[in-house]
Amino acid sequence: MNKRVLLIIGGGIAAYKSLFLIRVLARRGITTRVILTKGGSEFVTALSAGGLSGDKVYTDLFDLTDEADMGHIELSRSADLVVVAPATADLMAKAAHGIANDLATTTLSATDKRTLYVPAMNVRMWENPATQRNVKTLTEDGAFFLGPDEGEMACGEFGFGRMAEPEEIADAVEKIFKGDTTLDGLRGPKPLKGKHVLITAGPTREPIDPVRYLSNHSSGKQGYAIAGALATMGAKVTLVSGPVAIDAPPGVDLVKVETAREMLSACEQALPANVFISVAAVADWRPNNSSNKKIKKDQSDIPPLTLAENPDILKTLSGARDRPDLVIGFAAETNDVVKHAKAKLSKKGCDWIVANDVSGDVMGGDHNAMILVTSNDVEEWPRLTKQDAARRLAIKIAEEFS
Ligand code: C5P
Repeated sequence: MNKRVLLIIGGGIAAYKSLFLIRVLARRGITTRVILTKGGSEFVTALSAGGLSGDKVYTDLFDLTDEADMGHIELSRSADLVVVAPATADLMAKAAHGIANDLATTTLSATDKRTLYVPAMNVRMWENPATQRNVKTLTEDGAFFLGPDEGEMACGEFGFGRMAEPEEIADAVEKIFKGDTTLDGLRGPKPLKGKHVLITAGPTREPIDPVRYLSNHSSGKQGYAIAGALATMGAKVTLVSGPVAIDAPPGVDLVKVETAREMLSACEQALPANVFISVAAVADWRPNNSSNKKIKKDQSDIPPLTLAENPDILKTLSGARDRPDLVIGFAAETNDVVKHAKAKLSKKGCDWIVANDVSGDVMGGDHNAMILVTSNDVEEWPRLTKQDAARRLAIKIAEEFS
């Protein structure tokens, strides 16, 4: 998988399982760098962790050689994911409150990567309201949690507190790397749980005859990324897509269509929804009388191409009897972006317009600079990857329902 995990081993009896985790991750092509807390070093040694990870083990915030070698900021950012296992009640409490008084907690507060906490503790400590509050805070801040599992614990009690098994943790790590965080077992922030989002993406294809069509350059990347980001946040997502070359993100219900009229009908069938996002580049016109037989080239006259107007899906759903609570349109513009977006907001009857300047590489490219236009606000976002732009829009949508 060619990914890097920064593993923080906290002070708990389950720390021995984290040594095994390093091996399981290595077998899956994931390299591990280890931070061993002071408590962790009471249970396993830096020598074993370093031997297994094949790397130096970091322990002390104020170690001058370490800081010269790799500072705690760099350490926190050089990985693709931070895993805290075992995540003790103490580590989670500090992280939830931004306390940074040793290498592990400083790294947790400095990281710009997602964090997976794998708690292990006595059942009473896990059920303690303070611990539960901290778990909630960390979850709302975007952290993932795996476990704890139910079972017999080293302290002799039975209940929730056992750390997840290494194979299970490695599965969760892979799921996060694949962007698949909707499956059971992995708890992340799910602010859109119970909400149905309907989203269109890709181009439409309007047949001239059985072998020829009118279409456009839409890749579907932005719409698919938004669908994935919303599913990750717990929404039920129906993605109505024109023909594209990419796979549907995990946890998304995909409905494939070809023409604008098919797209409209699939959307109407998918209602009711709480949110409708119209990302598709719907062809404005279709050939008037598409032939059901291939038009032959050997006829003397060049066949005339007359066009008919396609239905406006965004406008239709904005005015529907069962209109979703939040209707979002996209506007691809090459000039006067905000002015045109504002005009489109009222013309289409939607709540938000996400405008983008398509004079660059937006169609088919991997980046997007969005401007979010609502009836009383204009927010200009920087140029982001389509995945990051999607996450930002999904967070904005979640805030609307919070
Ligand atoms: O009018 P214009 O094509 O610029 O509007 C763009 C927005 O309207 C996008 O959200 C697009 O998905 C939607 N649209 C639609 N049906 C059409 C044309 C555009 O839903 N026939």
